[in-house]
Amino acid sequence: MKQAVYIYRSFERFWHWMQAILIFFLAMTGFEIHGSFSFFGYQNAVKYHNTAAYLFIVLIVFAIFWHFSTGEWKQYLPTLKNLRAQIDYYLLGIFKNAPHPTKKTVLSKLNPLQKLTYLGFKLLVIPVMVASGLLYMFYRYPQEGVIEGLNIKSIEAIALFHTAGAYILIAFIIAHLYLITTGETLTSNLKAMVTGYEELEKNEIKEGSTEGVENE
Ligand code: HEM
Repeated sequence: MKQAVYIYRSFERFWHWMQAILIFFLAMTGFEIHGSFSFFGYQNAVKYHNTAAYLFIVLIVFAIFWHFSTGEWKQYLPTLKNLRAQIDYYLLGIFKNAPHPTKKTVLSKLNPLQKLTYLGFKLLVIPVMVASGLLYMFYRYPQEGVIEGLNIKSIEAIALFHTAGAYILIAFIIAHLYLITTGETLTSNLKAMVTGYEELEKNEIKEGSTEGVENE
């Protein structure tokens, strides 16, 4: 028998989708600035990229507050337990209809591979994007070509980090879109991030997960 289990809370879903829209938009305007294609026009692309970047920073500040005030940051503590099983599942098991090696609940919503990847984004990729993006802004505009305090005389290093981060994010988005389809059913992961609920077999629900059902 199936039961709807609450996995993602409302702020979390809002944050996820806002982040998805902003990163998609930042990638689109960013690669226009980079010269990969022309859509908005260079000057508009720069303007839109800057505005989206500020919104992204505001969202990040709220998300950091949410992670610490709810204790949800603990979900991202990496673990080796089941990491191998999760990798084996994506490489082999998934093609043989093997069961998912880890079960989602509101108390443990991320599999070990997700914990590791998302932590890497939170601690490395996103900070590099924000820092290099802000350096880019302040390098370019007010001081006309240098950041005196940091002794940065060339924009090349900043551009390199920012563009490398952008490629990593694009690679992540591609993998993420595929992995979305690998839940219990083709759309169950997507549905969970829209409604907060996922239909799970009753015998698959871990102890404590019904807490999430009552929370809504
Ligand atoms: C808070 C975050 C961010 C800030 C402050 C920021 C800021 C900037 C700035 C100021 C520029 C240079 C614009 C110009 O040349 O006039 C730039 C370029 C660019 N941004 Fe961002 N950005 C951010 C996030 C992102 C994200 C998330 C992506 C991609 C997913 C991205 C992709 C790019 C790319 C590809 C370029 C062109 C780099 C080059 O060719 O040198 N940015 N960004």
